Amino acid sequence: MSEPFLIGRDMTGGYGKGPDILHNCTIGVDKGEIAVIVGPNGAGKSTAMKAVFGMLDVRQGGVFLNGKDITKLSPQARVREGMGFVPQTSNIFTSMTVEENLEMGAFIRTDDIKDTMEQVYTLFPILRDKRNQAAGELSGGQRQQVAVGRALMTKPTVLMLDEPTAGVSPIVMDELFDRIIEVARTGISILMVEQNARQALEIADKGYVLVQGANAFTGTGKDLLADPEVRKSFLGG
Ligand SMILES: Nc1ncnc2c1ncn2[C@@H]1O[C@H](COP(=O)(O)OP(=O)(O)OP(=O)(O)O)[C@@H](O)[C@H]1O
Ligand SMILES: [Mg+2]
Repeated sequence: MSEPFLIGRDMTGGYGKGPDILHNCTIGVDKGEIAVIVGPNGAGKSTAMKAVFGMLDVRQGGVFLNGKDITKLSPQARVREGMGFVPQTSNIFTSMTVEENLEMGAFIRTDDIKDTMEQVYTLFPILRDKRNQAAGELSGGQRQQVAVGRALMTKPTVLMLDEPTAGVSPIVMDELFDRIIEVARTGISILMVEQNARQALEIADKGYVLVQGANAFTGTGKDLLADPEVRKSFLGG
């Protein structure tokens, strides 16, 4: 089997000089696929995402993008390599307008960003309507659209999303998942953490269950949904 397009492999590490949070943790995603990370609160899902994005030093293991070792690169350098990241919290500038948020997202670009902005507005039409409104005035689901749109502005090849559907209604969650599938169909790899484990695994090509900073179960979304142990412990039966 070939190595996934993006992989954080056997990552061990923690915050600053603190204890290890991740223990030989591996997460990754293939080209144009959706990989989903689930697990209990405090399992280290966000920490694993931050490690892959370079916001955390890994003490062992490494991160590879398209076969290239990017373990030592800064987050900004990883953006230049084609990675986009939507963190779990503080993922938009609330006092700026929707359009200013998208412009900020394109910070590394020196070319014309108009076409990409159009694509974001086509993907999320409500953002076009609210382009001149402060992002902080938007609903939870709309804010998440701003956050995803902002990350798309760098034209990433891989998009990392930490709980994109946090705090939204089931209907809005379904809509966001549909948009995420749409993004994946354009060839962008999606690596995302999700609290709505069952629904997320349904759209996942690959799923990871993390427990206490380590891989507990890995498989296709389908496999995990069918696994009695995963069902009992993580999907509510
Ligand atoms: N900035 C930080 N500094 C020190 N420790 C942290 C920091 N962020 C998280 N931790 C610790 O790392 C562990 C894993 O936290 P993390 O946020 O990665 O879990 P999670 O799986 O994303 O949880 P949740 O489902 O609640 O988002 C926890 O014990 C947490 O206290
Ligand atoms: Mg988290």
